[in-house]
Order: sequence, then structure tokens, then C-alpha cells
Amino acid sequence: MTPQIPLLTVPDYEARARQTMPTALFDRLFGTYGGPTMLSNTNNLKAMDGVKLRPRVLADVSHRDLSTEVLGNKISFPVMLAPTGTHQRAHPEGELASTKAAGIAGTILSLSTAASYSIEEVAAVATAPLWFQLYFFKDRELTEILVRRAEDAGYGALMLTVDNLGARSTEREQRYAYTLEAERILKNFVGVELPNLPNRDNFGSSFESALHWSDLDWLRSVTSMPIVIKGIQTAEDARLCAENGVEGLVVSNHGGHALDGTEGTIDMLPEVVHAVGDSLEVYVDGGIRHGSDVLKCLALGAKAAFIGRPIFWGLSVDGQAGLSHILEILRDELDVAMGLCGLSDIKNASPSLVSHPGTRSHRDGLIGSLDRLVELLEQGYIDRNEFDSLKAKLLN
Ligand SMILES: Cc1cc2nc3c(=O)[nH]c(=O)nc-3n(C[C@H](O)[C@H](O)[C@H](O)COP(=O)(O)O)c2cc1C
Repeated sequence: MTPQIPLLTVPDYEARARQTMPTALFDRLFGTYGGPTMLSNTNNLKAMDGVKLRPRVLADVSHRDLSTEVLGNKISFPVMLAPTGTHQRAHPEGELASTKAAGIAGTILSLSTAASYSIEEVAAVATAPLWFQLYFFKDRELTEILVRRAEDAGYGALMLTVDNLGARSTEREQRYAYTLEAERILKNFVGVELPNLPNRDNFGSSFESALHWSDLDWLRSVTSMPIVIKGIQTAEDARLCAENGVEGLVVSNHGGHALDGTEGTIDMLPEVVHAVGDSLEVYVDGGIRHGSDVLKCLALGAKAAFIGRPIFWGLSVDGQAGLSHILEILRDELDVAMGLCGLSDIKNASPSLVSHPGTRSHRDGLIGSLDRLVELLEQGYIDRNEFDSLKAKLLN
């Protein structure tokens, strides 16, 4: 008999879910660390491990505040549920269970366009704010209908996913001999009276690949919800987000499901944060498996982090209770990590809490150290006075 895996951490849930979910489905959706077609996902996990925490002591951490605000919504701790399609793959109650778990945890669920329960069904069970994730379809009428329904149902923000609008590889489907579940229903399209609605077979190719920054004006004309762009991976695009007046962005590579071979998201975070300054809120997702990962993300400038795969692991093991447990684990681990890093208020997390290839000198010798100092100055981690005094010390 296979020994029962204890459920003490998020990776424990992953291991248990691997035992319970069909192999092709599990591999296609989540992949294996280091496995084929999952390079970006592997990089997310590796990069997260590459960032190390810097413990601080004797800082009176008897009271710790994990709460924060995202776009004016208070959340009890800085972990939100990323938009992920068809939660019914993991549990019959699907997004209804996830929404309840988010409400119990006091945090936000971002509902996927490809959800297995509709915008309105999910809103009816929500006890915390919801955001809606939009895929922008070639069919603008359909896009507009979805946006207006989300706003009417009280969703607090529109998260526009932009990282998978170009060509799409089908390698994963072929490699894992995976076919979309026959019962997969795109619930948000049920009852929409338009011809040629996207279906489960042509869903990805119905996205508007001609989408451009200028289309944000049209989006603004049909909604007053704040806009969050999901799938930013460079300082250049982050700056364009700021120039185009969006309220937030998510540093994300779609959990490695879009372009394979990109950097881990936490490694992209510092350049993005530096590029936008305080002009908008920056969030991140990809590879968050421990509360300490959340602390690393916030130290490097994210306002909050999202989890994707762990939603399915929790649901598949024990429905809403499983996902609630995962959120509690992350909360408790974050609380411990904060205490041991001398941090009483998560809102005060700063780069000094981590040692990161982007924040530490990892090259030997004087030249490397000087180069690094210049980088730190350019990235805004130190000011001119600190630069001059550190340089003088190095050259002494
Ligand atoms: C099974 C699965 C389905 C996903 N569906 C969507 C989706 O419908 N819309 C979207 O914007 N992102 C989607 N994503 C990406 C997630 O929102 C998120 O970026 C990613 O899962 C974060 O990485 P993590 O899984 O390592 O936490 C999906 C990811 C997975 C694993």
C-alpha cells in the first residue's frame, strides 16, 4: 500500500494530488520539476529557491500584522488566488469551493474567463472581494459582455491576461496524450446569444492576437473597474503599463504555460518594480509554495503574490477544506518567516530582507564589486551618497 503523505506543507498537497489525479491531467496541467516543456515553471521554482532570507533578531516581533491592501481592498494576508481555468477538474464544486476558501481566508479570488462556474454563480457565494480575469477575444461584443457582467456582479478589478496571445505550442497536449475533458464547460458563455462562441477546442485561438496598448482605451470605455495587466516580464513593458495608466500589473509567465525558457518571475521582479516606482501596484506569481516565498516577493517590491497550481492541489485533495488548509499553511509560514526576519508589519518588507543575485555582490574581486555598486545605484537601491561612501571603502 502507498504510504499516506502527511499534509503539512503545500508540496505535501502536491504529492498527494499527484497520487489522486489522473497522470495525464496532472502532468499536462502542472508538469514535473525539470520535466520537458516546463522550463519556465522550473525556472520559477529555482529562482524562488535562489533568493535567500536574511534573518534579523531582537526586533520585538511580539505582534505581527500580515494584512495589506490591494487596489483599496483590504486582505488579511498578501496571498491571492490566481485566475486558473476550470476548477471542476479538481473538484465538483470547482470555483464555488475556491471562492468560499478565499472568503474564509479573507483574500481575493481572481475568476478565470475559462471558469467552470459563471461570473454570477461565483459572485453569489463570495464573502470577500473578487477580481475578474479577462481573455480579450477577437469577438469584441463577447469581450464587452463579459466585462460588463463582471462589473454588474460587483467584481472589483479587471485582470487582463496578455502573455499567451501569440502563437501557442501544443507540445504539452501531445506529449502527455491529454485531451480536454469532454465535460469541460465554459460556463461564462452559457446563455450568451452570439454566433460562433469560442468552445473548448478553439478557446486559445479565439484570443485577439492583434491586441495593442491602444486597445486599453476601448476597455476603459466599457468599464470603470481598475485594470491589472497580467503577464509582464520586462521593465520595458512595465513602463508601458505605467504610461498607459493601468492600476496594477502581475509579473507572471503564466506558471510557465506560455513561453518556455523565460526567467523565473522573482528574478524579473526587481527590474519591473524599479521601472514603475509607485505609479501602480505590482503583484507576482509563479512558484510560490511556502510562506517564506511570499516574504521574498514582498521584500523585492511586490504588493502581494498569487498562487495558481496549489489551488488545484488543495481542491483535489479535500475540496474547499483542502484549499482553506493550504491558505492557512501559507499564512502560518509567512507569520513565522516574518518573526524570524524581525518584521512586525508585512507592509514594511524591504529588499534588505533578502539576499538575491539582483541585490548582492556575487562576483569576486574589486571590479565585480564596483560594477555591482553601479548597478545598485542605477536600480535605486542606494543613493549617490551611499554609493560614494561604499566606493571609497572599497578603494581604501
Ligand atoms: C491549470 C492552470 C490553469 C490556468 N488558467 C489560467 C487562466 O485561465 N487565466 C490566466 O490568466 N492564467 C491561468 N493560469 C496561470 C495562473 O494564473 C498563474 O499565472 C500561475 O499558475 C502561477 O504559477 P504557479 O502555478 O506556480 O503558482 C493557469 C495556470 C494553471 C497551472
